[in-house]
Amino acid sequence: MKILHVDSEKCTRCSICAQVCPASFIKMTEEGPQENEFRFCISCGHCVAACPHGALDNERTPLAAQEPIKLSNWDEKTARDFLRSRRSIRRYKKEPVAKEKLLQLLDIARFAPTGGNGQGLSYLVISDKDKLQQITELTIQWMEQELSNGAPSAAYYRNVVRQYRTTGEDMILRGAPHLIIALCDKEFPRGQENAHFSFSYAELYAPTIGLGTCWAGYCQACAFTGYAPLLTVLEIPQDKKVAGALMAGYSQYRYYRMVERNPLAVTWL
Ligand SMILES: Cc1cc2nc3c(=O)[nH]c(=O)nc-3n(C[C@H](O)[C@H](O)[C@H](O)COP(=O)(O)O)c2cc1C
Repeated sequence: MKILHVDSEKCTRCSICAQVCPASFIKMTEEGPQENEFRFCISCGHCVAACPHGALDNERTPLAAQEPIKLSNWDEKTARDFLRSRRSIRRYKKEPVAKEKLLQLLDIARFAPTGGNGQGLSYLVISDKDKLQQITELTIQWMEQELSNGAPSAAYYRNVVRQYRTTGEDMILRGAPHLIIALCDKEFPRGQENAHFSFSYAELYAPTIGLGTCWAGYCQACAFTGYAPLLTVLEIPQDKKVAGALMAGYSQYRYYRMVERNPLAVTWL
């Protein structure tokens, strides 16, 4: 069954659609673009999006659902400052974030690049205070277990556990009013990588809608080991696994300066 449809009056046979196709699914012929029998479409939408004339449609990524890209007036300094201004937020206001705003955040996260355009992520949002407290407590218990087993990476955990047990300071979820868990199918091979990119999009977009985020790396590490008490509290369905974890809320503070990083290291061959 054919999925490509060409408007032959609009098509100039420029072959851009075939050139940008990552899977060689499109071949250029005298009559215009056609489907290559033995290659398959990964539904990335490049062919439709790159046609200067709107001559190509693909049932998997319909032309009608593609928003035009308006020329951006972002200069490079603005873009650079935008990227450099993102910070991990570790102090949150108690005020919860409205569902619509969290949806707005996640609706950008799904546009990040994914291996083979596999996507494959869904999101679980935990906002219940008691559940969040339980998640922190269980992650701490898992860390204590790791410490007593002498796991090599556990040295990092000592301080986190001590702070929590002596002062109650939560370095796991940082008092964030929401924890977002990225989920994928149990057999899905690229869940963690895809979740990293997806959450990077969310982290960058968050401040533009007034939100702050921080990677919940400790909680995520605990979930990745399959620690059953945590997975039970998270109510992870049997056929799913955790691919990533991100805190979200309103930041208590703002940042006035951009920090420096290690110097750029590049090798040229
Ligand atoms: C995979 C990953 C896991 C992380 N885990 C945590 C975490 O558990 N707790 C935390 O406070 N920050 C965590 N962070 C945030 C980093 O500490 C932070 O990105 C780094 O210090 C640089 O600061 P910036 O994000 O503000 O630029 C994590 C970041 C990444 C990418």
